[in-house]
Amino acid sequence: MEKKVISIPYEIIPLEDLSADDAALAQIARDATFRSYSPYSHFSVGAAILLDNGEIIPGSNQENVAFPSGTCAERSACFYAHARYPEAKFRKIAIAARGTDGEFTAVPTAPCGSCRQALLEYEMLADAPVEMLLVGKDTVYRLPSVSSTLPFAFTEF
Ligand code: THU
Repeated sequence: MEKKVISIPYEIIPLEDLSADDAALAQIARDATFRSYSPYSHFSVGAAILLDNGEIIPGSNQENVAFPSGTCAERSACFYAHARYPEAKFRKIAIAARGTDGEFTAVPTAPCGSCRQALLEYEMLADAPVEMLLVGKDTVYRLPSVSSTLPFAFTEF
């Protein structure tokens, strides 16, 4: 029998230490939280995807009274990005969230499994790692790729 361990590398960065470009992307994700439609959970999530054509596509969670009909911020951003610019490759995504108190979460919010799966597809199309910036109140987690967050991903059938 063989035993293996998968570990996920990430960096913990004070918000003020981000590069100007990353800080701008983080701010766009934060701004998007204010366009969240989340009357049921009161949890406002924002995402911002940087494309290789220089465009930045924001998205926010959009809920529905029939709960499963809503969608997460990351998927609203990635589906719109690819619908609008089908030729563009994803480069980076920033994600931020505000809780029921209206404040940005102290612990950076990570994308749910379905969003990781959706983002992975675009990372595969990009044929290069799509960096993830999980933006908390004062701290950012920087992950090198989507695939690093989704071990044993379903990638073909
Ligand atoms: N949500 C996101 O927008 N992204 C995630 O990755 C996890 C959860 C949303 C869905 C729902 O509108 C609210 O947060 C509470 O789950």
